[in-house]
Amino acid sequence: MSTLKVGIIGVGGIARFHMPGWEASEYAEVVAGCDVDEAVLRKWGKEFGITRLATDAMELIRDRELDIIDICTPNTYHAPLAIAALEAGKHVLCEKPLAPTTDEIRAIIAARDKSGKMLMTAQHHRFRGSARAMKAEIDTGALGEIYHARSWMLRRAAVPIRPGFIMKQHSGGGPCIDIGVHILDLTLWLMGHPRPVAVSGVARAELAHQEGAFSIWGGPIPPEFDVEEFAAAFVRFENGATLILEVSWMLHHGTEVEDTQLWLYGTKGGCHWPTCEFYASNNVTKQHYDRKLKLVQDTVEPHALECIEFAKAIVEGAPSPVPAEQSLQVMAILEGIYRSQQAGREVWLE
Ligand SMILES: NC(=O)c1ccc[n+]([C@@H]2O[C@H](COP(=O)([O-])OP(=O)(O)OC[C@H]3O[C@@H](n4cnc5c(N)ncnc54)[C@H](O)[C@@H]3O)[C@@H](O)[C@H]2O)c1
Repeated sequence: MSTLKVGIIGVGGIARFHMPGWEASEYAEVVAGCDVDEAVLRKWGKEFGITRLATDAMELIRDRELDIIDICTPNTYHAPLAIAALEAGKHVLCEKPLAPTTDEIRAIIAARDKSGKMLMTAQHHRFRGSARAMKAEIDTGALGEIYHARSWMLRRAAVPIRPGFIMKQHSGGGPCIDIGVHILDLTLWLMGHPRPVAVSGVARAELAHQEGAFSIWGGPIPPEFDVEEFAAAFVRFENGATLILEVSWMLHHGTEVEDTQLWLYGTKGGCHWPTCEFYASNNVTKQHYDRKLKLVQDTVEPHALECIEFAKAIVEGAPSPVPAEQSLQVMAILEGIYRSQQAGREVWLE
């Protein structure tokens, strides 16, 4: 079997994390790259020995020799590129968020259904050994019925100061869209994807516009910053379960850089990520039983593993490792936070 030929669109920061995965894949190889920044493109091409380079994404999308388009551009370009690639008959791996609005994700899903090609959102946290071990344990029924979750990803003055993140026209939103999408995807996946029905949330920028506001990753917060820096939400699911979510790029929170945690509470037990601890109580002995999953060190970095598993799923005819329908649920909640902030009350989701 010949290997699947990959073209990457947007060869900036995250594309570099995909390269080891494509290099390690027995089913796929990168043969082309595209970036609107020609200097970035040339440097990347030279470093990875890729000579088929283009500054216009449509050149890659129309290239008959390519089987897979790997989209690594800022968020607001994901939907038009993904739809064009699917319409051209390519399999699509797309960085998170699949798109920053539910309307765009629905349009991508429609294009996928028409093309019959594989579509996956690059939610790399699902490919961590710790997350997979938790998922396997939870799927045995260890927690019973999960009725509540708490998850957060809170940073202290750690803002990615690049237009693709802090300007709404390129990003679609702030930490909700950037890191909320990570912890929320992981939470819903571990909960078994109950359907969200209502959100009460806030999304605010209280610190970013203060005089002298800074990011530890690159100096002052520029005036172009027009997204939220903090969001919190209470989410209700169709099955009665609830979730409290908090995300921030800058908060006076007791952490050096980032505090990421996820707690699930069920009728039989609770658990915590990333420690992978499970908690239960025995009503007969009146004792608590705590245990920690035994983990083996990840041998493949999760961003790389997601590329490897994507190509493998195509070859094996398996379902998408991260289906777009699940990304749609994630975005429905995040969109609900923005709508709730505007309305000043709980909002119902479609
Ligand atoms: N999974 C993760 O851990 C993770 C981490 C960082 C970023 N991301 C995601 O990856 C994407 C890119 O982020 P990044 O940090 O690599 O940004 P980046 O700015 O480092 O790289 C993006 C590149 O895309 C190029 N680009 C912009 N528009 C383009 C277009 N229309 N066609 C071709 N090239 C274009 C830019 O010139 C730039 O080189 C975002 O969607 C972001 O959310 C994911």
